Amino acid sequence: MNRKMYKYFFTCVFLTTLISCKHQENEYHSLTDKIKAKSEKYQGVSISSESYIGNLKTIEIIEGDHIFLIPDRKSQITSYACTECHSKPVSELKGTEFKKAHWDIVIEHANQKTMNCLSCHNSNDMNNLKSLTGATIDFNRSYKLCAQCHSNQFEDWKGGAHGKNIGGWADPRAAMTCVNCHNPHKPKILSRWPSRFNTQKVKERE
Ligand code: HEC
Ligand code: HEC
Ligand code: HEC
Ligand code: HEC
Repeated sequence: MNRKMYKYFFTCVFLTTLISCKHQENEYHSLTDKIKAKSEKYQGVSISSESYIGNLKTIEIIEGDHIFLIPDRKSQITSYACTECHSKPVSELKGTEFKKAHWDIVIEHANQKTMNCLSCHNSNDMNNLKSLTGATIDFNRSYKLCAQCHSNQFEDWKGGAHGKNIGGWADPRAAMTCVNCHNPHKPKILSRWPSRFNTQKVKERE
């Protein structure tokens, strides 16, 4: 072999090594294979979202193919159980010492001609919510109430696209429920000022 050929030969060897190095990255047949192989060294280490959920009291919900945890609500609602007062008709309650209960609740939701307290609450069963057809909905599953009219957000939420996951991406999945973010009586989330306050714009608006 002459010099030129040597040079050519070594370049070939060098390139082949380069290519085969690169090839190692692709030695898995699929992404799943690669994940399996790469996670071998983590065997015995369980990856879980449990530590993020911590002591939060949750309930498990099953909606179609989606099974996940949402925060418990009943333990968070100060005026629960409602039947502590609502054990008799509201008309009778009105004359009592409690007559100023819920004065702070004003509906800013759908048009008030189409929605009132009893669209969602049941005066004969105040400890539960009620659907538009009168079916009982547990306070912990109030997302079912919202889903009747907001099916797009409900579908997105089930898949994780609307709302927020509480844990990480590992199981068990836990997500906030609608009323964690939206006040059912006044659900609109107002737009906020940008973080850099523009005093010139404020002057212009005055
Ligand atoms: C401390 C007593 C008390 C508790 C606890 C209480 N309520 Fe009431 N509630 C009242 C009184 C009194 C009224 C009537 C007030 C009025 O009309 O001014 C009322 C009215 C209502 C109404 C309006 C009913 C109508 O026919 O217009 C709804 C809805 C309601 N309550 C829901 C609830 C729910 C849901 C809970 C539990 C999460 C609850 N209340 C817990 C005392 C109470
Ligand atoms: C769109 C449905 C809807 C309507 C309309 C509605 N509520 Fe509620 N209400 C809810 C849901 C859902 C909850 C539970 C919220 C949670 O889990 O924090 C609730 C919670 C409550 C509570 C307990 C929480 C608290 O703040 O004390 C009271 C009392 C109450 N509603 C009274 C009323 C009254 C009075 C009206 C009418 C003025 C009314 N609601 C109208 C859905 C509704
Ligand atoms: C009976 C039907 C009905 C139910 C039940 C209902 N909503 Fe609504 N919601 C409406 C209507 C109608 C509007 C007003 C839509 C508009 O103004 O464009 C509205 C408005 C809203 C908005 C504001 C939308 C905007 O323009 O930014 C939010 C957020 C919302 N609802 C969340 C909820 C949540 C959370 C629940 C359950 C606690 C719920 N809704 C239950 C009918 C309903
Ligand atoms: C982690 C908080 C969070 C949870 C949980 C959540 N939302 Fe929202 N939602 C928001 C925010 C923030 C917006 C406002 C988005 C915007 O203005 O761009 C919004 C907007 C909306 C709107 C107004 C229309 C829109 O899409 O912008 C509706 C209706 C609504 N949510 C319904 C629901 C329902 C129903 C659920 C439960 C199935 C739910 N949300 C759960 C935070 C949440």
